[in-house]
Amino acid sequence: MNVCVLTLFPDLFEPFWGHGIIRRAVEGQKLCPSTINIRDYAEGRHRVTDDRPYGGGCGMVMKPEPLTAALKAAQSQMPAAATLMLSPQGKRFDQPLAHSLALADALILICGRYEGVDERFVDQHVDAEISIGDFVLTGGELGAMVVIDAVVRLIPGVLGNRESAGNDTFSAGLVEHAHFTRPQTFGDEPVPDVLLSGNHHEIDRWRRQTALMRTVLKRPDLLAQRNFSPEERALLVKWRREIDQLLG
Ligand SMILES: C[S@@+](CC[C@H](N)C(=O)[O-])C[C@H]1O[C@@H](n2cnc3c(N)ncnc32)[C@H](O)[C@@H]1O
Repeated sequence: MNVCVLTLFPDLFEPFWGHGIIRRAVEGQKLCPSTINIRDYAEGRHRVTDDRPYGGGCGMVMKPEPLTAALKAAQSQMPAAATLMLSPQGKRFDQPLAHSLALADALILICGRYEGVDERFVDQHVDAEISIGDFVLTGGELGAMVVIDAVVRLIPGVLGNRESAGNDTFSAGLVEHAHFTRPQTFGDEPVPDVLLSGNHHEIDRWRRQTALMRTVLKRPDLLAQRNFSPEERALLVKWRREIDQLLG
């Protein structure tokens, strides 16, 4: 996947490309990342990229011309890329959106700063605005890294088998089962016996059950639209009976 980030702070991305799974994706040619410094496409001696807002008020607004020129430069290398802009006003980024972006061959991500971007640039050039949550960051760079990180690990071949995303939280509409590693007892707490049994059928069953239980406890909202399997239905009924008994 080709990913080009338009930003006023390209240096922020150098350590990001150079570590962990992202670095492995780059080395394995699953990810070809680049940045474009928007300032390089600004006119004049001072290469100004922002200006005061029409109508008055505080803050500055990113000018449309440098953004458009920077975008044209990106598109000349990646003509079929979707143009996405990070914005708190955008569609909320989530795992289904990460999965659909992971199918793309090329993405251009635009990072805003200051009060944001001249609306005419958005109208004329942006395919979709993406928000990483209901809070306001100072710039789109962290948002772009969040999106890239979540998307790249879903590109086939980026994660090894041992790190498969298949059981991850959200992938089956549930939170993931609990994980344990050595030591066998930590504090007074031993690892659940079933995980030491070597019985893979029972281990799978335990994992399915604890994933459902943890979703009920931690993220019941995920279950609102779920088509429960017969096994899940039976478990929920059993747990409800047990809770009713506890409450008398
Ligand atoms: C200070 S914010 C501008 C916020 C804007 N004045 C508003 O209220 O909608 C500057 C830039 O940070 C980025 N940004 C801020 N919050 C974000 C979020 N939740 N998700 C994605 N990008 C965000 C966007 O690129 C935005 O243009």
